[in-house]
Amino acid sequence: MEHLISLKKWSPEKIRMVLDLAKDVKVDPRKYSDAMSRKTLLMIFEKPSLRTRLSFEAGMTQMGGHAIYYHTGNSPMGSGKETIRDSVKTASRFVDVIMARLFKHEDLLEMAEYATVPVINALTDDSHPCQILADLQAIEEKKGTLAGLKLAFIGDGFNNVTHSLMYGGTKMGMHVSVGSPSGAAYSPRADVVADCEGFAVASGGSISVTDDPIEAIKNADVVYTDSWMSYHIPKDQETARVAKFMPYQINAELMAHAKPDAIFMNCLPANRGCEQTAEVIDGPQSIVFDEAENRLHAQKAVILTLCGAA
Ligand code: CP
Ligand code: NVA
Repeated sequence: MEHLISLKKWSPEKIRMVLDLAKDVKVDPRKYSDAMSRKTLLMIFEKPSLRTRLSFEAGMTQMGGHAIYYHTGNSPMGSGKETIRDSVKTASRFVDVIMARLFKHEDLLEMAEYATVPVINALTDDSHPCQILADLQAIEEKKGTLAGLKLAFIGDGFNNVTHSLMYGGTKMGMHVSVGSPSGAAYSPRADVVADCEGFAVASGGSISVTDDPIEAIKNADVVYTDSWMSYHIPKDQETARVAKFMPYQINAELMAHAKPDAIFMNCLPANRGCEQTAEVIDGPQSIVFDEAENRLHAQKAVILTLCGAA
């Protein structure tokens, strides 16, 4: 049985297969309208969501199945009354596939170990693979390719989306460049950088990390940023973090160092005036809503693949 825990574990061939399926699902959704007939997806959430919840639920409906929204705040698991392993062993008797958005990645690993159905990572402190599959689909749609493109991530480097982009980008032959403040709390994890160096050697891509935002964004084909205040970051850190990250804000001046036809991406939710200006996210280079739409198609492809229903 296969799970989607992190793109670190997925081969480039597997990623390619899912991207090709996502493309087909998007072009011809009716072909898949009964593919999950009478099947149930359990969606476990410890954190808020708009896109992930709606796209997974709509995706199951469109494929003839059903999704259960389950917030742990009101559950035996969330209150500590029932262990993760007992919860997912039980849930596996009822449902066909589980997705979970959790604080701790270790908890997701425990779910995958004890579930007897496929488990999908819908965001943890470590990674957000579903987002990056949708992003890669969007980049390929706009640029016609992935390999050889320069993808610049600017902002919070010590971040689930950043880490997954690094994995996905380097596996697919992209030149991934991260521009973030120096220091372990702001820049990508050393083990992720080391893994990506290996993936880049195999794919012909590259990985670089710098605290100079201009160097990071220079000649980029794709410019990506994410919230400076991820769901798990306490509100009392906001003032200090905004001050720390402000030199990394994607504004028209910084964007001018990318290629003139560069696309701008943000996984959303976005905060105008923080990680990017309104001028950039609402401007002609922004593809953020196409990117969001692809969550639907890419996740359908993930579900179909893991459930053997493609
Ligand atoms: N990008 C993303 O995962 O959005 P949500 O937090 O709204 O699900
Ligand atoms: N890095 C963000 C992504 C939100 C989709 C967070 O973890 O909140």
